[in-house]
Amino acid sequence: MAASLPFAVLISGRGSNMLALARAAADGTIAGRIAVVIGDRADAAGLAAARHFGVAARALAPAHGADRAQYGRALHEALAASGAEFVALAGFMRILDPEFVARWRGRLVNIHPSLLPAWPGLHTHRRVLEAGERSHGCTVHFVTEALDAGPPIIQARLTVAPGDTEQTLSARVQRLEHRIYPQAVGWYATGRLALVDGAATLDGRPLGSPVIEEDA
Ligand code: GRF
Repeated sequence: MAASLPFAVLISGRGSNMLALARAAADGTIAGRIAVVIGDRADAAGLAAARHFGVAARALAPAHGADRAQYGRALHEALAASGAEFVALAGFMRILDPEFVARWRGRLVNIHPSLLPAWPGLHTHRRVLEAGERSHGCTVHFVTEALDAGPPIIQARLTVAPGDTEQTLSARVQRLEHRIYPQAVGWYATGRLALVDGAATLDGRPLGSPVIEEDA
């Protein structure tokens, strides 16, 4: 295990999780450094935020008419060129093709704003509120071919408050995301976290269920 893991962060939006990872790498909480931030659109606010933070950032939009597999290959080449050995998806709004996922298997994680397997997909906060759920949160998981369904690593939970709106819930969940994402990437960087025979392992032991953090 290298002393400092070079990793990439893929974004589509404002990149607050990317910044949480960048800060954790900069202050030594993660034994790693961001090799590159890649956005699938040039106007992703997180690209400017990354550069402002002093991290290399580039846009890589799909070429005109490119299918998912072609985009996956372009992405793979950009990542390989950056020297990244691990990839964190942070609000990357694109489904990755099976070849890409296979190439990065065990080295590819995502953060999702729900307690998976509950509420895969989009608009999780709205759907949680509409369903009257009391428990909500976020999940870091290994990425596999099945969307939002790879082996979970860590979850942070909160209790939905009576007055919560989609906006307040989103903000509360994001605060937790910014805590557990650096935690999970940090585990990987020190060799504690792995994907073995399809299961997430921490310190060599399969995680039967994700590590749980309760909102303090
Ligand atoms: C986060 O809520 C994350 O869970 C989801 O996309 C959002 C990205 O937010 N996958 P940000 O760009 O990191 O602020």
